[in-house]
Amino acid sequence: MLMPESQIKLYYKNVTAEIIGKEHGITDTQLKALAEKTSPLIAKLNKERKAGKTPYRDLPFNEKTVQKVKELTAELKDRPGYGRLRPDECENLVVLGIGGSALGNIALQTALNPYMHNLDDSQRPGPRLFVFDNIDPSQLVSFLDWIDDKLDKTIFNVISKSGQTAETASQFMIIRQLLLDKFGPAGLKNHIVATTDPKQGTLRKIAVEDKLQCLEVPEGVGGRFSVLSAVGLFSAAMCGIDIDLLLEGACDMDKRVGSEDFYKNPAAINAAINYHFYNTGKKISVMMPYSYALKDLSDWYRQLWAESLGKAEDLTGSEVHIGPTPIKALGTTDQHSQIQLYREGPNDKLFTFLQVNNFNQDIKIGPAPDCAPELGFLAGKDLSLLLNSEKIATEYALLKSKRPCLTVLFPEVNAYTVGQFIYLYEVTTSCAGALFDINPYNQPAVELGKEATFALMGKTSFEELAQQIQPLTELDGDFLV
Ligand code: PA5
Repeated sequence: MLMPESQIKLYYKNVTAEIIGKEHGITDTQLKALAEKTSPLIAKLNKERKAGKTPYRDLPFNEKTVQKVKELTAELKDRPGYGRLRPDECENLVVLGIGGSALGNIALQTALNPYMHNLDDSQRPGPRLFVFDNIDPSQLVSFLDWIDDKLDKTIFNVISKSGQTAETASQFMIIRQLLLDKFGPAGLKNHIVATTDPKQGTLRKIAVEDKLQCLEVPEGVGGRFSVLSAVGLFSAAMCGIDIDLLLEGACDMDKRVGSEDFYKNPAAINAAINYHFYNTGKKISVMMPYSYALKDLSDWYRQLWAESLGKAEDLTGSEVHIGPTPIKALGTTDQHSQIQLYREGPNDKLFTFLQVNNFNQDIKIGPAPDCAPELGFLAGKDLSLLLNSEKIATEYALLKSKRPCLTVLFPEVNAYTVGQFIYLYEVTTSCAGALFDINPYNQPAVELGKEATFALMGKTSFEELAQQIQPLTELDGDFLV
């Protein structure tokens, strides 16, 4: 039975013609047409799901994975000679991964653990978490200098479905050698958890050879849809996040987004509204949480939306070059950076706010200094009241400029509501893919850049590509100012 007071909700009145006028808002007739177009697509998605074509939808129900993640987490905590994985003994968990193998981990950590998790031992219910999804050498060297004398209390979780991703592979090769030098071959087994394809791929091969502890990236699940698998669950569980509650939230959202009644299905309505605005000239989709905790969920969404919906061809093979551009912004920070453009620039954006009704912690604003009575209106008020008032104020200002605004309402930020949000947006993406008539599960355009990197780094069988790229490796002085 769903707990209604803890369900996240999608509020869509402020995209309607009633609020922002017929030129920019959705009319009743248009909404009805969207319902008619989308309803059969929900049925189609449900059928595909039943036929096992969208295995990401079953991840929240996969008890085997949860069991495995919990067993490994417990084993690492209790390993003899290593020490229990309490904050005072195993101090650091380092995730090596990129894209779908990192963004979900970061989002869960920011949303569900305290802001000072890494710095304040008393605030963290597990090891510190570092996620390396970049290969800037200065960043890594600085980190390695810091962690060098703490390696005995550190676990590295390398996440790569393919094992071929140059960024993750290179980080892994650096860490692997470091651990070998410090602890010998046992160091690999004791300090690395590899999350990768269950059967094949480079990382699986290495994991078998090095006898690494392993978790699985499920077959048929792309990186950006994998956060509710071992990819996201392991670092979350290690760092004290309630993964049962997270998955319960996703399971409960599954009931809502499976509904073939358009008006009761938040994924269908969300996708249809996004589709409508894309087709009526608002091709940019801004997600703007009014909660620091939720800020990295908009980063996770950005990848999900961009890689899934930005496609050259539709399902018939016709060239379409389609896809809304996702932008992340943060309230209130970006009110002081972006709102001028959002209100007075081109009316080409759909806004989605994330709003939190009850913050886990709150604080009252202090009294105004005697010399500044003009600040008295703030004195004694909850900081959350100011934050949520600024959300309403910003939305009001945008509506005045006839900009459509959606809001996802969180009763509070916890594992249950975050699980709902993740699942809602994953299914919204599938539904938007169906509306745009494209395949949201591949990412062919990412490949060429990866291959060009292989070529530039001298990988065999990429010699011809290396020659084609060669002119780009030299700057033409005539164009250098
Ligand atoms: O969503 C995706 O599929 C990508 O972002 C991948 O997760 C990313 O490219 C990393 O790939 P891999 O897990 O194979 O290292």
